[in-house]
Amino acid sequence: MALVGTKKMFEMAYKNGYAVGAFNVNNMEITQGIISAIAEKKAPLILQISKGARKYASMSYLRAIIDVAVKENPDIPICMHLDHGDTFEICKQCVDDGFTSVMIDASHHSFAENIALTRQVVDYAHKYGVSVEAELGQLGGIEEDVVGVSHDDLASHLTDPNQAVEFVKKSGCDSLAVACGTSHGAYKFKTEPKLAFDVIQAVADKLPMFPLVMHGSSSVLKEFKDLINKYGGKMPDAMGVPESAITQASKMAVCKINIDTDLRMAMTAKIRQVFAEKPTEFDPRNYLGPARDAIKAMVLHKIDALGCAGKAKECS
Ligand code: G3H
Ligand code: 13P
Ligand code: ZN
Repeated sequence: MALVGTKKMFEMAYKNGYAVGAFNVNNMEITQGIISAIAEKKAPLILQISKGARKYASMSYLRAIIDVAVKENPDIPICMHLDHGDTFEICKQCVDDGFTSVMIDASHHSFAENIALTRQVVDYAHKYGVSVEAELGQLGGIEEDVVGVSHDDLASHLTDPNQAVEFVKKSGCDSLAVACGTSHGAYKFKTEPKLAFDVIQAVADKLPMFPLVMHGSSSVLKEFKDLINKYGGKMPDAMGVPESAITQASKMAVCKINIDTDLRMAMTAKIRQVFAEKPTEFDPRNYLGPARDAIKAMVLHKIDALGCAGKAKECS
């Protein structure tokens, strides 16, 4: 199967009450860890690439890695998605590079400018059958070139359900990332978070059958934070999005759930562990291998939380 878009995945996810995991990839080991979990669970998959990932690995390497994943897993629908594109130019470049889905994140602009820029991307992407995710409202945390709101201000930047209707109608986007209290990165919440499920439900009520996206959905797993700190790291105490909240959102209108930080932490924890336990180790295979295995185990678990195990076939 060639790379696929998100249309069928989202239709099925919406109808059957699950979400597709969107995992960020930056290199071969991360991609392999994700893919082997997905293949074992027979789940649909969105592999997402940020501007930073393009800069780090170069698009030709990432594309070649993903092409192998697609070829070796003909029964798994795989979408290649641009994460947080912030200009028309980067979105156009990704459409031209063969991405099957792009995100234009103009949420830091005014409402009118967000609509206009999203519309420009939609008009270009749709000519090539590429779907477009947009964002309304603002998340916390920092992405490259897109500074999120401070954690204390999250509640006042949630998506306005009435604006969402106007936004979707005027921009023509295919899915919408909503701000519902999550934030990017490893330092999300000091205590057990309360996500704004009422906002998700209100948007869903006003936009029936329209797929929503939840960013900043890593759980910041204690297991990895503890390993990192045990072996010399200094990550402060923080909580992420509990997996129960991921499951709850998946059963609602949320069809795509973004996870990056948990991949990074799994990888870092294992590498630190190998370095600490075997100070003479210098073969990258002996630390990147365990890191890849940890990513696989973590993703296997996430697929259950998302409810998308065994759904590859119906999304194809
Ligand atoms: O939301 C941001 C993703 O975690 C990607 O992060 O821009 O550092 O690659 P990045
Ligand atoms: P996390 O930082 O919670 O993994 O979120 C990733 C994300 O939203 C990528 O777009
Ligand atoms: Zn994001």
